[in-house]
Amino acid sequence: MIGWLLHLSLILGYLVISTLSAFTTCTVPHTNGTDDVPGLHALLPGCSSNARILFQQGVTYNISTPIVFGTLQNVEIAIEGNLELPTNIPYVQGIVNASGGSVRWFTASGKNVTVSGNQDPDWGWIDGEVNVYSANENSD
Ligand SMILES: *[C@@H]1O[C@H](CO)[C@@H](O)[C@H](O)[C@H]1NC(C)=O
Ligand SMILES: *[C@@H]1O[C@H](CO)[C@@H](O)[C@H](O)[C@H]1NC(C)=O
Ligand SMILES: *[C@@H]1O[C@H](CO)[C@@H](O)[C@H](O)[C@H]1NC(C)=O
Ligand SMILES: *[C@@H]1O[C@H](CO)[C@@H](O)[C@H](O)[C@H]1NC(C)=O
Repeated sequence: MIGWLLHLSLILGYLVISTLSAFTTCTVPHTNGTDDVPGLHALLPGCSSNARILFQQGVTYNISTPIVFGTLQNVEIAIEGNLELPTNIPYVQGIVNASGGSVRWFTASGKNVTVSGNQDPDWGWIDGEVNVYSANENSD
């Protein structure tokens, strides 16, 4: 009986800890004048499950290179800031050519991946020539 109670309290303790630490908000860093994608990619290993990847309101992100979110699970991609894609056509063509003739600027796959925007009319925009969004949601 004592052993059983101890076991139960360990389970409850574990549940409390895992509930508290279950969800992370990962705010995408921004530096003026540089491509923000490497910073986002650096963040992803800790944010690919049970997380909210936040592009903050009030920030115009420089998305000069394609974003590869990888395989995500229970992740919300919250686009509350603006994402500015390159408008320099030869530059984009160079990237397209380098990747064998086609490129997806945003790729994500996984389970339960949602993309949300912003109610504020000034924020939550994806501004650019190529905004192909590809998300594969596999349900189980
Ligand atoms: C970054 O750019 C924005 C918009 O041009 C400007 O308001 C802000 O002061 C700049 N921040 C820094 C740290 O230079
Ligand atoms: C975005 O980043 C690229 C690469 O670092 C840079 O050449 C470009 O000037 C930046 N654009 C803006 C609007 O800051
Ligand atoms: C799906 O992901 C969201 C976070 O974006 C989470 O709140 C929700 O519980 C997840 N749903 C399931 C069924 O796991
Ligand atoms: C990309 O390839 C196209 C078609 O092959 C070519 O016309 C263009 O000059 C190339 N651009 C760059 C920047 O490599």
